[in-house]
Amino acid sequence: MIKKGIILAGGLGTRMSPLTKAVNKHLLPIYDKPVFFYPLSVLMLSGIKDILIIVNKGQLSQFKKILPNGNNLGIKITYAEQKNPKGLPDAFLIGEKFINKDNVALILGDNFFYAQSLTKKLKECVKLHKGATVILHPVRNPSSYGIASINKKNKIRKIVEKPKKSFSNLAVTGLYFFDNKVINYSKKLKPSKRNELEIIDLLKKYKNNNKLTAQFLGRGGAWLDTGSINDFYDTSAFVSALENRQGLKIACLEEIALNNGWINKKNIETAIKFYGKCSYSQYLSTLIKK
Ligand code: DAU
Repeated sequence: MIKKGIILAGGLGTRMSPLTKAVNKHLLPIYDKPVFFYPLSVLMLSGIKDILIIVNKGQLSQFKKILPNGNNLGIKITYAEQKNPKGLPDAFLIGEKFINKDNVALILGDNFFYAQSLTKKLKECVKLHKGATVILHPVRNPSSYGIASINKKNKIRKIVEKPKKSFSNLAVTGLYFFDNKVINYSKKLKPSKRNELEIIDLLKKYKNNNKLTAQFLGRGGAWLDTGSINDFYDTSAFVSALENRQGLKIACLEEIALNNGWINKKNIETAIKFYGKCSYSQYLSTLIKK
């Protein structure tokens, strides 16, 4: 069972400069919330309450202004800094003490997931005991992502980071579930040609031991990576359309915590005071009037 999660919210955000020159990309808005609320909501929906957020050097205080320690959500948030963007597996080197002897989930700070029965699927994934699980979802532009092909039994056959030659349209999304071997495997990785530790090289270690399994969001699900300007605005438009149509918010952290029984109405009142007069607070007040 996985009870710990890491959100990787560092990097330089170069593709979104000049927006990211002064502000961490994960604090910019996706419609009505900061980017990192969305991956955090995914971990919370999985039932994970012990979370390490990795940010780049010098930007810790910005995050702590919004989310000091997780008490307000009935969860435990720990922060760590990444000195340089050395690659995604660096999360397991920075997070070695945090992970300790446990299994762990990793979610990239710029990834957005929305799907029917998402919670049910996530709860299946966190049951992982041994090996690793990735979530695959089709994309139109495979050369922009980690890509995998599968056999008839849904076992991963081949996995390549940003392939120049297309061999599958199944992207490896930025949500991964690992057993504790992830720390030792990460220590053995060598930087790639672009001088980064590659998540795909890490996943290959599991694949080569026949320990890498795939899960799927399903055709009705949406996975968006908010890493570039266009994707960023597409995700905002998606959230805006759904929230305004349904009157239900996506990634309202307090709502998830309340539904999970981690906080009570009093905590929601405190949150309303903390956020002040805004539509997010208005939404929170509807939760406690129900
Ligand atoms: O979004 C899914 C894709 O994410 C996967 O399909 C790829 O296999 C995987 O390599 C990754 O590709 P990207 O090119 O999108 O990764 P990017 O460098 O944009 O970083 C993803 C997130 O991780 C982003 O929120 C910034 C953060 N990050 C990245 C690096 C390299 C860090 O916090 N530290 C880092 O060292």
